[in-house]
Amino acid sequence: MTKRSLICAAAAVSALVVSCSQKTPQPSVDPDLGLKDAYSDAFLIGTAVNRFILSGRDTLSYNILLKDFNAMSPENDMKPEVLHPTPDTWNFTAADQYVAFGKEHGMWLLGHTLCWHNQTPDFFWTRKDGKPMSKDEIFASIEDYIKVVCTHFAGKVDAWDVINEIVSEQGGYRDLGWVHALGGDQDLVDEFVKHVFRCAEKYAPDTQLYYNDFNAWRPEKVAGICRIVKMLQAEGIRIDGVGIQAHWGLDFPKNQYIEDAIDAYSALGMRVNITEFDMDVLPFTRAVQVFGWQGMKDPMYQLEEYEEFLDPYKDGIPAEIEDAHAARFKEIMEIFYKHRSQIDRVTFWGINDRMSWKNGYPVPNRTNYSLLWQRDFTPHAAYGEIMAVPQK
Ligand code: GLA
Repeated sequence: MTKRSLICAAAAVSALVVSCSQKTPQPSVDPDLGLKDAYSDAFLIGTAVNRFILSGRDTLSYNILLKDFNAMSPENDMKPEVLHPTPDTWNFTAADQYVAFGKEHGMWLLGHTLCWHNQTPDFFWTRKDGKPMSKDEIFASIEDYIKVVCTHFAGKVDAWDVINEIVSEQGGYRDLGWVHALGGDQDLVDEFVKHVFRCAEKYAPDTQLYYNDFNAWRPEKVAGICRIVKMLQAEGIRIDGVGIQAHWGLDFPKNQYIEDAIDAYSALGMRVNITEFDMDVLPFTRAVQVFGWQGMKDPMYQLEEYEEFLDPYKDGIPAEIEDAHAARFKEIMEIFYKHRSQIDRVTFWGINDRMSWKNGYPVPNRTNYSLLWQRDFTPHAAYGEIMAVPQK
């Protein structure tokens, strides 16, 4: 019996695992099979992990990790501020534990992320006297970092997010971090991007190399990312894939944009990875995406009259939102499954709603329901829906 038919047969007789407040009947799933089994003919199923999970202190997440996932991303422990917090210090302890855990349990492992404007100390691009580094110093700084890190993890991770989030919503470069230090000139930043991928190719030879970004479905941004891919390819610089982060919501993005983005990257020979999938169910998130989120950190939005509007599900997820959450996760997983020949991996950005960054972004201190398990570790209805997608 194939694994797939086993899933179908088991599903027909198994008891329903999912229990929550939704009204719609849920498809049955075999409690012994996990997401990774349901999708074994399609792509890897990953999750972001943290130290509490890997150490077993978060026991229930640990058990879910081993049952449902076959790929991992380090939520924070391989970011520059963790690996190289000061000019004189390096700290590989947590990242080494991540790698050791992954190897022990046969997980596919992502290294995340080498070159980013965020969670990266200023000394990467600023001199000790506070003045910006020269172009040569900046190029040397990123090369030194990539050399140390990729050498340390040589043969231990399967892929690197080489550059994270450098493209703007309009398709140019974002004037932040490395780009800002370089003065923002497009030609110079193009040179920098080529340099960064050349370094990754040199110091991580047997590792997949990706470009990773949010809103990587927006047509202008897709065009900007494709421009970079083609630029690298034209110079014979290796890039293997594009990561679509997929921090999405009940009402965005349009499904057609998702499909078009997958096709656009794939048409350039890129393997597509869905790298940071979660679902924002709270009001106003899409609007904040459009007009910017910085203002929403203002303490004013924590006042009672705003709070009631912005954070309406503090006491639990209403049945109709649970249904919408399940339907949206299902609809998107159906798109991924349809495009499975182009997609290598779908990674969720965490396990339990409590660990999701979406409780703090774009508006701080909210109660969101962004993942597949609720705060008490009951699976959301979405879990059963997603398990059933490949059976259809
Ligand atoms: C980006 C980064 C991730 C993470 C999320 C927010 O998507 O790539 O590492 O920081 O933001 O949690």
